[in-house]
Amino acid sequence: MTQTKSKVLITRRVYPEAVEILRGHAELDYNDSDDRLESAELLRRAQGAMGILTPNTQRFQVELLHSLTDLRIIANIGVGFDNVDIAAASELGILISNTPDVLTETTADFAFALLLAISRRVVEANRYLLEDRWTRGSIDFFAGHDVHHRTLGIFGLGRIGAAVARRGRGFSMKILYHDARKASKDLEGELAATFVSKEQLLRESDFVSVHVPLTEETRKSIAEPQLRLMKKTSILINTSRGAVVDEQAVVKAIQQKWIAGAGLDVFEREPRINPELLNLRNVVLTPHIASSSEDTRREMCLMAARNILSVLNGRRPESLVNRSVWESPAIR
Ligand code: DGY
Repeated sequence: MTQTKSKVLITRRVYPEAVEILRGHAELDYNDSDDRLESAELLRRAQGAMGILTPNTQRFQVELLHSLTDLRIIANIGVGFDNVDIAAASELGILISNTPDVLTETTADFAFALLLAISRRVVEANRYLLEDRWTRGSIDFFAGHDVHHRTLGIFGLGRIGAAVARRGRGFSMKILYHDARKASKDLEGELAATFVSKEQLLRESDFVSVHVPLTEETRKSIAEPQLRLMKKTSILINTSRGAVVDEQAVVKAIQQKWIAGAGLDVFEREPRINPELLNLRNVVLTPHIASSSEDTRREMCLMAARNILSVLNGRRPESLVNRSVWESPAIR
């Protein structure tokens, strides 16, 4: 007697090696396209699926989760999991996994790239040259702000925040950090990082790099009052989630020169961008690509696929967000 295979939905095009991990182990429904599934189609195609492999840009809200009665795991491609209602998923016994660690260094590289690009006006100068406008120089030609020996403020000293701080140390920067929890003495020692209040971080840093996850507590936690505390010469870097920062307040802060500029890879309503941001000179804006190197994006897809394969084989996935669900599998 042939046993029917469990169904797995892949919501968007992924690296082919990840599909290969699952092929043969599950009945695959693969949306081999770069278009996100609209909610009605997602609801239809996810029916009967035990697993969903998905970039973390696909949203899973309470009603949807309730209607997917066979679902055992959503394997997010990405470290963030604010696309899923975790409380509802946990209550329903749905495992949620993510892809931490594999993207830490790549994302930190990009945060630092933004920091360098905005402070040394790399993108602006590149545009100037491409427009064939270089006829002469001047004493303050594209004069930017130094990075070395400046103060780097890390808001959220998790894996990525710590990796950015390490890069800062390489540039002889002074490292301040603020987090809900103080880091271990070992980590503070390694990074020569000083724990300060959020206010002190904002007041004293030349660069503030945001690395907190998006939660109800962190939503718009950098808004007008916080931006007003920052130095006029300071630069804001965000590679975390757009909604951690009040975008309109950032526009105002730059227009009114409370801060010198911003390097932003994430936005409140992606892929839509606040048009006022587009009119600012002293910003570098990128389309949520901080973790996007070939190797890392492939590794993220592979890790997510392995998480589904583990569940298919009755094993615990390597990176679970809601571990308690695994510990009480009888929940559904
Ligand atoms: C992540 O891993 O969460 C990145 O933001 C990519 O989505």
